[in-house]
Amino acid sequence: MKKVNIGTNAFLYPMPVTLVGSLVEGRPNFMAVAWVSRVNSMPPILGAAINQRHHTPQGIQENQSFSVNIPSLELMEKTDYCGLVSGREQDKSDLFEIFYGELKTAPMIQECPLCLECKLLQVVPLPTNSLYLGEIVGAYSEERYLTDGKPDIRKMNPFVLTMPDNRYWKVGDPAGSAWTIGKNLKKG
Ligand SMILES: Cc1cc2nc3c(=O)[nH]c(=O)nc-3n(C[C@H](O)[C@H](O)[C@H](O)COP(=O)(O)O)c2cc1C
Repeated sequence: MKKVNIGTNAFLYPMPVTLVGSLVEGRPNFMAVAWVSRVNSMPPILGAAINQRHHTPQGIQENQSFSVNIPSLELMEKTDYCGLVSGREQDKSDLFEIFYGELKTAPMIQECPLCLECKLLQVVPLPTNSLYLGEIVGAYSEERYLTDGKPDIRKMNPFVLTMPDNRYWKVGDPAGSAWTIGKNLKKG
């Protein structure tokens, strides 16, 4: 089949849906962020690409910290709201029950099955967004979301995003074992 060039406004499939938490002028604020990834092995570093016009960058800079919270499907409406409305216009601090970890300045969401507390390491400015690189200094979950001590995606029930059609999707069934199934093709 012939490949069709669909243009350059292209994305990864799917993207995680997260809520980035920060303290802006002392008030907890949460924004939806899908452009986020683990970017370093050891120490564990996350990168979040955030538009410089948003309210969140001010809080990250002020406190040199942020959190990345993974919402479950039940939090879809509140998560979307956090992606529609700026903390500059509306107070988003009362949407969730908030807790803090060791940094004391990265607000995290009690209702989320997984919350990652990050210490800001570096900011890489790009034309519209800045890449906020933060070292994970704490990861918080609950027994009910874990299997053998590790976060279990079935129990966490997160949702993912596709762009540019802008739709949320549920996560499906496991399909294979990573770093294992490919061994079948090893030569020799
Ligand atoms: C599902 C979803 C994902 C989003 N991902 C990002 C992102 O990765 N980076 C970004 O800068 N904005 C992203 N946004 C937009 C911001 O969340 C939105 O502009 C938000 O209101 C900014 O909040 P703040 O001004 O309080 O920081 C996303 C919005 C939605 C709905």
